[in-house]
Amino acid sequence: MARVDPHSYFDSDQPRVRHAHFKWHVEFESRRLIGEVLLELDRPSSGVLDLDSKGLVIHSIHNGEGKVVSFVIGDEEEILGRRLRLELPFETQSVRIVYATSPDAIALQWLEPAQTSSKKYPFLFSQCQPIHARTLAPIQDSPIARFTYDAEVAVPEPLTAVMSAGPAGVREGPAGTRTFLFTMPQRIPSYLLALAVGELASRDLSPRARVWAEPAVVDGAAWEFAGIEPIIVTAEKLFGKYDWDRYDMIVLPPSFPYGGMENPRMTFLTPTVIAGDRSLVDVVCHELAHSWTGNLISNATWEHFWLNEGFTVWAERRILEALHGGAAAVLGWAIGETELHEALERFGPASPLTKLRCNMHGVDPDESFSSLPYEKGARFLALIEHSVGRDRFDEVVRAYMAKFRFTSITTEEFMEFLEEHIPGTAQKIEAHRWLYEPGMPANAPVFRSSDLDELIALANAWNTGHRPSSEQLQQWNPSQLLIYTQHLPRELPIADCDWLDRNLQLTRRQNYEILVEWLTIAALSDYEPAFDRLREVLMRIGRMKYLRRLYVALGKHSRTQALARETFAAASPTYHPLSRKLVESILEKYSA
Ligand code: BES
Ligand code: ZN
Repeated sequence: MARVDPHSYFDSDQPRVRHAHFKWHVEFESRRLIGEVLLELDRPSSGVLDLDSKGLVIHSIHNGEGKVVSFVIGDEEEILGRRLRLELPFETQSVRIVYATSPDAIALQWLEPAQTSSKKYPFLFSQCQPIHARTLAPIQDSPIARFTYDAEVAVPEPLTAVMSAGPAGVREGPAGTRTFLFTMPQRIPSYLLALAVGELASRDLSPRARVWAEPAVVDGAAWEFAGIEPIIVTAEKLFGKYDWDRYDMIVLPPSFPYGGMENPRMTFLTPTVIAGDRSLVDVVCHELAHSWTGNLISNATWEHFWLNEGFTVWAERRILEALHGGAAAVLGWAIGETELHEALERFGPASPLTKLRCNMHGVDPDESFSSLPYEKGARFLALIEHSVGRDRFDEVVRAYMAKFRFTSITTEEFMEFLEEHIPGTAQKIEAHRWLYEPGMPANAPVFRSSDLDELIALANAWNTGHRPSSEQLQQWNPSQLLIYTQHLPRELPIADCDWLDRNLQLTRRQNYEILVEWLTIAALSDYEPAFDRLREVLMRIGRMKYLRRLYVALGKHSRTQALARETFAAASPTYHPLSRKLVESILEKYSA
């Protein structure tokens, strides 16, 4: 027996699922997917097959020959869920599992019509990363185990379904429904399985890119992402051909708990990236970059998460640099640096969670999530790049993509590859400290420009009375304004908050990065004029990055604590279960 992933019952000695065929009825009334999955195995097998499951109701299991497959559902483990152990009859090639999901499947958020922009129809979306696909279907829910899939999804008549797959037609029926067909010919890890259902419209952005959203949102989304094709072309120049045919995106209702999710062929996005001035398109660059780093080559388990996210942040900033120049990339690194420091502070620099290569036995990957693997990982790769030279590193990255495409690998496999191609590098840069020791090593690359230094110096001089001039305020782009506000003191006198809001128009911002940075200062400063906007944001937005910051900041004063508690009481029924759990854990830490 060989279990290789602390977050899955997947056993590498057992047969592997090569292809999955899903048939689902999307039932909004009961909040369930009802249907079946046909799992095709990589070889005729008999004996034990362990699958992951959580909250599923299993009705029956048969093999492809129609023989009953006996099974045992294990006890509920808090993080893993329940092991579903099948006993395969002789020469079993496939198994058909008839089942239903639970109404509180954590991978699914079922929205009431009131939570959509039109308020007319319900909406459903999934979020499987990291270990929630097992609440959608009984599968080998480890990123090591890749499979292709197709699906038949029946949804109420006026609604549309999209998946992380290619569309393969629509059928009328069964009664009152339409059935959407999908096929995913490329092998994906289970965490990239994705589904969204709602009243959806779409706009073409290029022959291979399209954006989906609710009808009232879709034109704004199409304008915001109109520049996607040149971004794809730039990424292809850096990392090789785009291997997933189409690059479509869907803008979800505001309760989506992440900024973006790199579901293949269908990036999922929060509507908070629609700033109205294209200033948050870097989120799309990031999700697109995952098409190479993360989706083409995935982390073997969540202990190697930095391989997904660190690589993608590095790739995202290379795309940014190719499109907008070195100065723009430096600003991207600077924004990331603030997030890195936040994470180091949250965990403490000696925490094992600040190693790139983590030991995660008994650790819930949702709870250990932070910017650390993103920013430390990206800096580790930039250090290698600087050490061996960009041209050489780019060659090696392309060879890496070619060698490991459509596989899932560990940190150690990556390092072996590096050693083989650029011997001695790991030792030279003290890779061991980066990967296996906590905190930030002293040889971390520094990203600076005189422009950046000036901005930071100006913000640091706030308490000595220095203020930006009106010309500066006019000239700053959104990244510069964000960096400036990130470096301001966290708690300010009321008069200073007034000055900032009057001169920088912060409360009215549509760019959520800037808005949330400002509202964090406002909350920490107990600044009442921003309270209405704070409530409005907390009522509407489910993106955990923002909820975490705002609810933590609101813990500072008794008046803001009261605001947080009241707002959460009103908003929590509309939050995603993950967001709800996060905020509950923050409120528990408030002083009584
Ligand atoms: N894959 C992540 C989101 C994720 C990570 C979901 C871990 C569940 C578990 C996605 O690519 C991501 O990193 N999104 C960022 C945006 C980005 C620009 C850094 C986010 O949501 O903020
Ligand atoms: Zn990412």
